[in-house]
Amino acid sequence: MKIIGIEGSPRKNGNTEKLVRSILQGAMDDGHEGKFCKLADMRISPCLGCIGCRETGDCVVKDDMTQIYEGIQAADAIVIGSPVYMWQVSAQTKMFLDRLVPFIKPDFSTRLQGEKRLLLGFTQGNPDPQSFKPYFDYLEKMLAFLHFRVAGTLVASGTMEKDDILRQIDVLDRAKEMGRSLMA
Ligand SMILES: Cc1cc2nc3c(=O)[nH]c(=O)nc-3n(C[C@H](O)[C@H](O)[C@H](O)COP(=O)(O)O)c2cc1C
Repeated sequence: MKIIGIEGSPRKNGNTEKLVRSILQGAMDDGHEGKFCKLADMRISPCLGCIGCRETGDCVVKDDMTQIYEGIQAADAIVIGSPVYMWQVSAQTKMFLDRLVPFIKPDFSTRLQGEKRLLLGFTQGNPDPQSFKPYFDYLEKMLAFLHFRVAGTLVASGTMEKDDILRQIDVLDRAKEMGRSLMA
């Protein structure tokens, strides 16, 4: 089976990237095919709000989202990872989320092909992993509305410096385990 990780931190090889890569690694250790996409390294524009995609299923903006659309359609499972920026997802992640509109038909049924399992991964400076739970729950609901089969959310907290997550062996082990069980 195939899993795609879409990661929205502008920081190279930071905590969020390590979290998403660990989830993918768990799946790949069991023989699944993993692909990692770093939004900050891709050419992705914001949604233009033309709503043309609702009828056509096709976005008029031709940029690197094309390969992400194809990657999501080809995948059995998706991981979306973001750092918390100002109590929300990063701008890169938000642009990606807005660009998911083509997957929704005018009657709000889906153009997603087959079941798409989904995990969310967040990292945050705040040491309390519960501090943004209402927001993470809200994002889970939004993605379930888009017909992703949301399997859960993993949070790494207290990660200010780039490598802080490396000291959280339990979180990285849990990430691998969640990646494995997502594909089971
Ligand atoms: C612009 C900016 C805004 C941030 N806002 C928050 C915040 O609201 N709450 C929080 O807990 N951490 C916040 N942080 C800290 C990051 O979420 C945290 O360091 C995260 O692990 C960074 O991920 P990265 O290493 O993948 O870049 C912010 C960091 C930046 C740069």
